[in-house]
Amino acid sequence: MRALIAYVSYSGNTKEVAELVEDKLTKEGISVDNHRIGIDAPFDPKSYDYLFIGTFTWEMGRTPDEVKDFVLEIGYKPDNIAVFGTGDTQFGGDDLFCKAVDKLRKFYRSKWSGLKIEQSPRGSQETKVESWVEGVLQHAKSFA
Ligand SMILES: Cc1cc2nc3c(=O)[nH]c(=O)nc-3n(C[C@H](O)[C@H](O)[C@H](O)COP(=O)(O)O)c2cc1C
Repeated sequence: MRALIAYVSYSGNTKEVAELVEDKLTKEGISVDNHRIGIDAPFDPKSYDYLFIGTFTWEMGRTPDEVKDFVLEIGYKPDNIAVFGTGDTQFGGDDLFCKAVDKLRKFYRSKWSGLKIEQSPRGSQETKVESWVEGVLQHAKSFA
């Protein structure tokens, strides 16, 4: 099994979540490639069993432009996309918290709940990341 983790991160929080997702997938025996959205060369989405997309949320719930370009680059809606992200509840409270995760999930009609992390995942939120990845893998088996 192969997974791609594509993410965008300016100040490092989403990158940290991507690293934890990678650690967990690797522990589960899945081979992982990373893709820094807006930086790395294009890839073939069809060659992966799982596609993880990670994004932060910007300016009143906006999705970063790099992520919008990335969505256009993919050009179709794969049915194996799981979405995670980081945000900060100080920016508009629950309504806008990690809004980009909700928008991407809706767009791709993702089968999985989105993972929303407040700022850095290090510490108490690490187990949340692990259980979310476990959930994605388990549900993927039941869909197969
Ligand atoms: C100008 C600005 C606007 C932001 N707006 C939101 C927002 O609407 N919703 C949210 O959940 N987080 C918002 N955030 C918080 C970031 O999404 C959060 O710090 C995130 O973890 C940054 O990710 P990164 O470290 O991977 O770059 C905002 C941050 C900044 C600087």
